[in-house]
Amino acid sequence: MTDQGAGVYLHVPFCAHRCHYCDFNTYAGLDDQIPRYVAGLHAEIARVAAAGPPGVAPPGADVEPDWPVFSSLFVGGGTPTLLDPADLAGVVRRVRDELPLAPGAEVTVEANPETVTAGGMATLVDAGVDRVSMGAQSFAPHVLRALGRRHDAERPLAAVADARAAGVRRISLDLISGTPGETPEDWAATLRTVLSAGTDHVSAYALTVEPGTEYAARVRRGDALAPDEDVQAEREAVARDVLGAAGLARYEVSNWARRGQESVHNLTYWRGGDWLGIGAGAHGHWRGRRWWGLRAPARWADAALAGTATAGGEELIDAPTRRTERLMMGLRTVEGVARAEIEPVAEATVAALVRGGVLADDGDRLRVPEPALGLADGVVRRLLAA
Ligand SMILES: C[S@@+](CC[C@H](N)C(=O)[O-])C[C@H]1O[C@@H](n2cnc3c(N)ncnc32)[C@H](O)[C@@H]1O
Repeated sequence: MTDQGAGVYLHVPFCAHRCHYCDFNTYAGLDDQIPRYVAGLHAEIARVAAAGPPGVAPPGADVEPDWPVFSSLFVGGGTPTLLDPADLAGVVRRVRDELPLAPGAEVTVEANPETVTAGGMATLVDAGVDRVSMGAQSFAPHVLRALGRRHDAERPLAAVADARAAGVRRISLDLISGTPGETPEDWAATLRTVLSAGTDHVSAYALTVEPGTEYAARVRRGDALAPDEDVQAEREAVARDVLGAAGLARYEVSNWARRGQESVHNLTYWRGGDWLGIGAGAHGHWRGRRWWGLRAPARWADAALAGTATAGGEELIDAPTRRTERLMMGLRTVEGVARAEIEPVAEATVAALVRGGVLADDGDRLRVPEPALGLADGVVRRLLAA
């Protein structure tokens, strides 16, 4: 278990406004609920910590009597930095006080550039935040508009400078590629701008149109185009060239980092580790059991403050499901997946995929070679269909 790590995820479901592409559990215009939600986070962190490792593991699972040391805390959203910095810092401190975070544990806060100030960042650094994951999405003004982003192309750079001046050691920028209207030059310029900001980690996601989003409604009305798969493949190739030439290595389908700057927290997900999920709609995974929080922030906070169940549901993950999930997650990373976690596999299909250059068989591990990593989902589908 130890090399897979264990993490803590806290969800902050509030945003100043909803971006057109977003289908995360987020809400705009509910700022008056924030104080109660923050109080709910404190109550739930204390309750979870006092209750000890959650759930009954499935038969045969190895149940630990006590918490492991957590290697990461990730506060995601929504927009955690919409909270007053002192409140957000207080929640981070509460986790540190109640749960055994490893010395030097990675502590990440997701941020929207509009909500970043040097003073606010300094407050977070004082509470032990060492990493900020900031949404930049694009540095082309017309692409930002198409995505429903309200900040201009300069704001993310100013926010990075503020975070760095405040002592944030590690900064990651999120980008979205392949938005219709984005030209190849826009994308190349966006990547160069990210590099000029000196970040050591980049998440570059291909735009997906999620049902129920404003972007999906615009596509339906004919006011926006759906992204094109061939364009997405071209964008990925350019990202590999530009980021790779600058010394950032791709370690997951959509994630690049300088060596040693990979996200510890996300690697825990991809390696099949365990994490506590705390907050509205937050998913957690612990020793073969998965749960998710009530989605509505007010309902979740009410339950947390009343000490009643905050989970909207839970399930035990059986062995075949676990194998499938390990295959899907593991093959998205350059390190791949241990055969022991996914066997039995169809050896003839493995051999055919290896011959086709989209799978490498290292004996005890299977992995998708980095140049083909963008095809990982298709490789998984072939293996599952075999
Ligand atoms: C939970 S969001 C948090 C970002 C932060 N609240 C902000 O405003 O920048 C995390 C990231 O997921 C990515 N993302 C979310 N929905 C997406 C979609 N439909 N297609 C591609 N990327 C998406 C974006 O890059 C976004 O920055």
